[in-house]
Amino acid sequence: MSENSASRSADPDDHSSNPSGNDSIQEVMGRRITRRGLLWTGGVVGAAGFLGAAGGMAAGSTETRTAGTVAARGKGKGLLRFKAVPASKDDKIVVPEGYTAQVLIPWGTPIRSGGPAWKKDGSNTAAEQEQQIGMHHDGMHYFPSNRGGDTGLLVLNHEYIDPVLLYKDGDKPVTREKVDKALAAHGVSIVKISRHKDGWRLKDSRYNRRITGSTPMTFSGPVKPNHPALAAKGRPQGTLNNCSSGHTPWGTYITCEENWNGLFGTTDASWKPDAEQARYGVDAKGVELDWHKVDKRFDVAENPKELNRFGWVVEIDPSDPKSTPVKRTALGRIKHEGATVTESKGRVVVYTGDDQDGEYVYKFVGSEPWRKLVRKGKSPLDHGTLYVAKFSDDGTGVWLPLTFGQGPLTAANGWKDQADVMLRTRTAADAVGATKLDRPEWVAVHPNNRDVYLTLTNGKGNGGAVGPRKPNPYGHIVRWREKGADHTATRFEWDIYALAGDPNYDPKVKLGPDNIFGSPDGIGFDRSGRLWIQTDISNSSQNLAEKGYDNIGNNMLLASDPKTGEIRRFLTGPRGAEITGFTLAPDNRSLFINVQHPGEATTAWGKPTPENPRAVSNWPDFDPAGRPRAATVVIRKKDGGVIGS
Ligand code: FEO
Ligand code: CA
Ligand code: CA
Ligand code: CA
Repeated sequence: MSENSASRSADPDDHSSNPSGNDSIQEVMGRRITRRGLLWTGGVVGAAGFLGAAGGMAAGSTETRTAGTVAARGKGKGLLRFKAVPASKDDKIVVPEGYTAQVLIPWGTPIRSGGPAWKKDGSNTAAEQEQQIGMHHDGMHYFPSNRGGDTGLLVLNHEYIDPVLLYKDGDKPVTREKVDKALAAHGVSIVKISRHKDGWRLKDSRYNRRITGSTPMTFSGPVKPNHPALAAKGRPQGTLNNCSSGHTPWGTYITCEENWNGLFGTTDASWKPDAEQARYGVDAKGVELDWHKVDKRFDVAENPKELNRFGWVVEIDPSDPKSTPVKRTALGRIKHEGATVTESKGRVVVYTGDDQDGEYVYKFVGSEPWRKLVRKGKSPLDHGTLYVAKFSDDGTGVWLPLTFGQGPLTAANGWKDQADVMLRTRTAADAVGATKLDRPEWVAVHPNNRDVYLTLTNGKGNGGAVGPRKPNPYGHIVRWREKGADHTATRFEWDIYALAGDPNYDPKVKLGPDNIFGSPDGIGFDRSGRLWIQTDISNSSQNLAEKGYDNIGNNMLLASDPKTGEIRRFLTGPRGAEITGFTLAPDNRSLFINVQHPGEATTAWGKPTPENPRAVSNWPDFDPAGRPRAATVVIRKKDGGVIGS
């Protein structure tokens, strides 16, 4: 999520709503670096040893090697075989020599031929938007439907709306039609695509479907559909602020509700958030979209239980166009960034970050092998334990269960049952003593050695060994190995894989012109073990010298080789946009990414207005009477080779 619709003033994720006294990752980190430096200079293998030489530790220790140190030298011997692209301030996509980038399904594309055409003046109605690709593409997964993988379903999130760009005449005054259009622009798109000689194309299919902020939903897991906390007005509908996503081994897509709190508000001056509402950042104004003024569903004074219907991981079956999406409450209620599913001993393990400054990283571990649960007619996402991470200074960590009756989560302490623990996940995590982090975003699992990588995008600096900077405007990537490389384990060892930033502003950063980056967000591995890193530099920092971001330029995609620690810039995006959505065709020869919020208001470039929506960017159409729009981009190698090779 970024500025603009998220907030008229600043990124809401940047503000902490965590008042607990728990250790933050930077407090742990500061202590840990000291200890690690001693271990290493003493010739003893410290915690870094278990992870090998690649992503040596980060800030503070001259004895250490951070990923990126060997990066900037053109073609290496490792996995990265493309020539780095330079940092860019241009309003375009740049890919390495020998690669092509094709724009696919921009916002407003009708999902069926014969559907309502996109209107470049923003005048499409809510009913039309419901039949078109939504706005602000984010997390995505490609589900191949044939053996070659050149036909399949592309499923993607639409995180939020830009109220200036969505409408012809701006969003004020708010009307019910405008709210309905915004709801229709949120959610998920499912579309069939296939590859032809001239590139990938959207195809008509009975699977093509929009799921929006108004689609009927159901609940499963500890918080049952008839739970009193869910008894808001009307039946449950909609998924909103769908940030990143995941996919399950049984072929479903899971979409994550992130900054849902900002969509609510009230004009009732007597209303004050209770402690739990405040813990999730709910207030009377939200991000000032004012939906509550015309749709009482979003009025927190009149319809407070509607809040409890958001903050979940939502499972969607793309193979059943009639299916009702299910909010899987066993995965907790937070501001879910993503949900990365892996398997261990046949059980599913789902890693999920809570993206706000000072929040935590969680994992869900299935109670039994998922195939066994499916055979019993049970959802593997309904049966298991949710844990939250505690990082210690010595490079170890522990997963603390959020289970009713265990530790402090008892009736004596005011906890009612497991549903109560899941509805108040953040408070439960506070109680068990989780470690505060600098905005946990995506998680990726290495395909071979099973190491887990987590982006911490930036933050005020929560202190501790696992967060090396205070403040931390550039972010870093933390990595851990579960005990025995078993994702169901409750103990792990961790290190810092890469410290982002620009050495001109922070000499501890071991990056150069071919790889300086900031605010890592989306990450993912390809099957060869390249780690792909996408950035989401806030538009209040992008390209600004006073924020130390002038050399870094626009948001980008980089690739990293964990074996060598090398990082290399692969793609740069247009102005005002973040790069997100990383997913690959199974042959790793087509890479799909999303360009989210091009042309959003940026301090460096200006603000779009209804009169001039092109003030910051006009990507990808460059129509002099058009407007910027989010889109998927497909990257191919001209020789048809594996991306990055
Ligand atoms: Fe939706 Fe945390 O990015
Ligand atoms: Ca963003
Ligand atoms: Ca994100
Ligand atoms: Ca982000």
